[in-house]
Amino acid sequence: MPHQFIIVTKQDGYTLIQLNRPEVLNALNIKLMEELVDTLELLEKDDEVRCVILAGNEKAFAAGADIKEMADASAIDMLMRDQFARWDKIRKFKKPIIAAVSGFALGGGCELMMSCDMVIASETAKFGQPEINIGVMPGAGGTQRLTRAVGKVKAMEMVMTGRMIAAEEALRWGLINKVVPVEYYLEEAKAWAKEIASKPPVAIRLAKEAVLKALDTTIEGGLEFERKNFYLLFASEDQKEGMNAFAEKRKAEWKGK
Ligand code: HXC
Repeated sequence: MPHQFIIVTKQDGYTLIQLNRPEVLNALNIKLMEELVDTLELLEKDDEVRCVILAGNEKAFAAGADIKEMADASAIDMLMRDQFARWDKIRKFKKPIIAAVSGFALGGGCELMMSCDMVIASETAKFGQPEINIGVMPGAGGTQRLTRAVGKVKAMEMVMTGRMIAAEEALRWGLINKVVPVEYYLEEAKAWAKEIASKPPVAIRLAKEAVLKALDTTIEGGLEFERKNFYLLFASEDQKEGMNAFAEKRKAEWKGK
């Protein structure tokens, strides 16, 4: 089905999703989020897709939720729209997602980026939670994911001042993985996606699940969870193949099972 607000390009091993509302800096309206989540649901079922890149354009990853769409909503309208159910689906997506960020990643845009597993940014990227300036606060995970990523005092700074931080600062704070010149940010994300797509998918899936578990459990519970996933991988053909290939000094051929 053709999309109105995203562009989906399937590459060898991974799929690139580009947010495409350039006239409003990729503001995340309900339709865009619907298209994004519906696409992820399809990609989840497609064995050829082993990694996803989520990008905007050079000027904006996304400048937040669509302010004009929600300006007149009542609390009950917001409740009944239940837009965060869609965000929960992104959180539960089982394959790796790399955010490729250039320009603005603000409000819901920054939160969407933080819902991804890794972030490649251009030198021009700017990150912020400016909701305070329009009389609200982050609502799609910002207070939680930002605090876990950068710690309490920096999260407070961003959420309470609404100030933007530049790419280099975001890198120092541990919010993103890598900063590259703007002309390379998408290429760099593609190189990461290709590398991850070449790994054994079952191990990638269980590893993602275990790392995410660390964000909402105790060390004891997390270590137990990790151990079970580790044991489970010994039921995969890829574990036998990977270890035998190592011993036989050859390249492993993954089956994804
Ligand atoms: C709707 C938006 C928008 C947004 C920009 N636009 N951000 N429309 N929602 N979040 C529109 C502008 O209205 C304008 O449309 C066009 O995009 C270009 O934006 P300008 O403001 O003219 O560009 P510039 O001067 O370069 O300033 C860029 C900017 C500014 C600093 C990013 O646009 C800005 O502050 N945007 C809002 C950022 C924000 O507050 N985000 C948080 C939203 S709340 P016209 O028609 O005038 O050309 C949120 C809550 C999430 O995200 C909760 C979970 C869903």
